Amino acid sequence: MTYGARIAGVGSAAPARVVTNYDLAETLDTSHEWIVQRTGIHRRHLLDPETENEGELGLATGALQRALEDAGIPGSELDLIIHASVTSEMSCPSNACRIAEAVGTNTAAAFDLLAACSGFVYGMNIADSLIRTGRFSTVGVIGCDALGNVSDFTERTVSILFGDGAGAMVLRRDEDPSIGCVHQEMGADGTKWRMLYMPRREREVPEFDRDNPIKLGCLRMNGREVFKFAVTKFRKVIERAMAETGLGVDDISQFVCHQSNARIIDSAIQKIGLPPEKVHININEYGNTSAGSVGLVFDDLWRAGKIKRGDHVMCVAFGGGLTWAANVWKV
Ligand code: UT7
Repeated sequence: MTYGARIAGVGSAAPARVVTNYDLAETLDTSHEWIVQRTGIHRRHLLDPETENEGELGLATGALQRALEDAGIPGSELDLIIHASVTSEMSCPSNACRIAEAVGTNTAAAFDLLAACSGFVYGMNIADSLIRTGRFSTVGVIGCDALGNVSDFTERTVSILFGDGAGAMVLRRDEDPSIGCVHQEMGADGTKWRMLYMPRREREVPEFDRDNPIKLGCLRMNGREVFKFAVTKFRKVIERAMAETGLGVDDISQFVCHQSNARIIDSAIQKIGLPPEKVHININEYGNTSAGSVGLVFDDLWRAGKIKRGDHVMCVAFGGGLTWAANVWKV
């Protein structure tokens, strides 16, 4: 018997501290106008190292708790927790195990997934596949990153782009197999890892990047190359999803896109001919939150009643690896 996977609840979380472009321009050679024009970002929410004692773990837990409340179930009913992040607090144990403790389960399987900005969509796709087999029945998927912790704020090219945030979903087994993922794609091109990476040791830095002023332990990115990759990939995965499902733009109620850069999303809107009202953008408020972004957008739409039962929704993301992922979900 094959089951379906129903979205039972959605939630998100962002730190209270807001950092505007003007704040960044106080110490960096940049301007509000440049950042808005090149990225669409006006502000981002960043964990405050002085007052915030919960860190990435608190954000991820908060998002899952809201999704559980929305679903109306206690954490003890989860039988699997998938936490997607590149900024988990310890490499052992996974943040997923600590989130499990915080939401009140000591039996659910729990693991961290590292697929950078594609992580949340990877997590949704994996959860759907595992639910369909009947192996798991109630899965919490969280995408959370605190890239502010790994941004070098003495360097302007990368640090202006990122923010901290988390999105989560509770997925439950449904007797109707037509509910859930009707199409999914996940991929990676490891030959392009050098375009976006976070070296901890000198020996991990490729020859061409030895003079990069960004500190070890912080994110480095070839913005222009990632931009080109993203624009091409966005278009390809969306067109492939529509071709494989036979669904057209009119049949899909929302395109939930990773908030990488507003110009990348605008290019998809124009090239594919997506109606702008079907592509929610919140990068202006949160910046690029990596694995957090698709869940943050989904939660905005869910709470606004713009995603309803029976709708088809497409999620699309790409990021470090370089990775990409997409799905079409019958809600
Ligand atoms: O989320 C997953 C993966 N990440 C992405 O999707 C990010 C993709 N890339 C981008 O979003 C963009 O490449 C950035 C926003 C990171 C950079 O924008 P860009 O339009 O590609 O800028 P650029 O690197 O081509 O630089 C253009 C100019 C340069 O000056 P010159 O050489 O033309 O004189 C830079 O030095 O802008 C300068 N510049 C800045 N100026 C003011 C670079 N960063 C800044 C800055 N403020 N923060």
